[in-house]
Amino acid sequence: QTGKFTYDPGFLSTASCQSTITYIDGDKGELLYRGYPIEQLATQCDFLDTCYLLLYGELPNEQKQKDFHKLVSEHTMVHEQMQFFLRGFRRDAHPMAVLTGLVGALSAFYHDSTDINNPTHRNIAAIRLIAKMPTLVAMAYKYGEGQPYVYPRNKLSYAGNFMRMMFATPCEDYEPNEVLVRAMDRIFILHADHEQNASTSTVRLCGSSGTNPFAAIAAGVACLWGPAHGGANEAALNMLEDIQRNGGIEKIGEFIKQVKDKNSSVKLMGFGHRVYKNYDPRAKLMRETCYEVLGALGLENDPLFKLAMALEKIALEDEYFVARKLYPNVDFYSGIVQRAIGIPVSLFTAIFALARTVGWIAQLNEMIGDPEYKIGRPRQLFVGSERRDVPPLHQR
Ligand code: SDX
Repeated sequence: QTGKFTYDPGFLSTASCQSTITYIDGDKGELLYRGYPIEQLATQCDFLDTCYLLLYGELPNEQKQKDFHKLVSEHTMVHEQMQFFLRGFRRDAHPMAVLTGLVGALSAFYHDSTDINNPTHRNIAAIRLIAKMPTLVAMAYKYGEGQPYVYPRNKLSYAGNFMRMMFATPCEDYEPNEVLVRAMDRIFILHADHEQNASTSTVRLCGSSGTNPFAAIAAGVACLWGPAHGGANEAALNMLEDIQRNGGIEKIGEFIKQVKDKNSSVKLMGFGHRVYKNYDPRAKLMRETCYEVLGALGLENDPLFKLAMALEKIALEDEYFVARKLYPNVDFYSGIVQRAIGIPVSLFTAIFALARTVGWIAQLNEMIGDPEYKIGRPRQLFVGSERRDVPPLHQR
């Protein structure tokens, strides 16, 4: 407190904007997209309905739903030149490094026809990004596998198209299993938006300079990669596999001891949240999806799922976690579902980015659409040296 500025160590945890898109009540564990509870959207709608809702504020009627699905399907292919851009990466590059590059590269194709201040241009950029993210993520995966790319097939659903581009090969087509497609679509819905999280704030700040929307979304992809944010789903599954390799449920106590040890940096990945100090409603839905998917695949006794539930039980009962209000967040169960679908761990965060793209765009459009908006300029509380003169070299 200097009398001029107040300093909030949480930095962006002060209100950075007002919004009509997503509402979170961290104490009640409530999440609403444009007023609709996530529980109802995840069970009664599909991802493209959710995209329409986040972008335009209302759920589509039958005709608008048909038109929107058709419009998205007309933009699922990417410029053939993108394949040459991909070739610049090592085959073992992390998919998030590749995706950051690919999304940024899209701005090279559309920068001269996309004025972020033009609402029509913003809408086409939104449709292009929503439509092309599955194709880009699947291309990043195929490139790493050394397999040929699979072109989108637009008669399939959004999630089914993505899974076919991921898993089909020239030798064998991929017949999407309806339970797995539904699970993939639900993962997209649950990750679509989450008000002013780190990556969304990055997209808003980046877009506030008037830059190309594709470049602003690329900045969001880069921020989401971090293990404290979207990278937590990959870290959570790696954590479960580590525990499993080192003795599994029998040795869980030793792991919990490490987490509680003040001198250890070990965290329970997939637990805790800056806003939710109650159960993340998305984690509950993700756990139900886990049951459905593992049941459909005859994997009810999946050891990692049993380990995850044992960890959750400890966290909900142990004083250390209860005192710190550490509940499972969206990232805790999503990895187990994706692994059961056949998605490699390294791709989990890229799928989070695929789903979050619509939220980033909706938030960016809301900001740019406000005639009062200006370029963002966070302030600081300077606590460095007072003014002083440069000493001659021999006196330094
Ligand atoms: C996402 O913001 C969003 O909305 C993000 C997101 C979205 O949809 O965009 O919801 C997606 O990013 C979910 C969060 C995914 N991250 C993880 O699961 C990584 C593990 N979680 C932690 O890194 C942590 O919980 C945070 C960063 C998510 C939140 O941290 P906070 O609220 O700032 O809490 P804190 O770091 O101040 O910790 C408070 C206490 C500390 O202990 P003490 O110093 O008081 O003794 O809780 C401890 C922390 O050490 N703690 C944990 C812990 N998280 C916090 N201890 C063990 N395991 C953890 N996971």
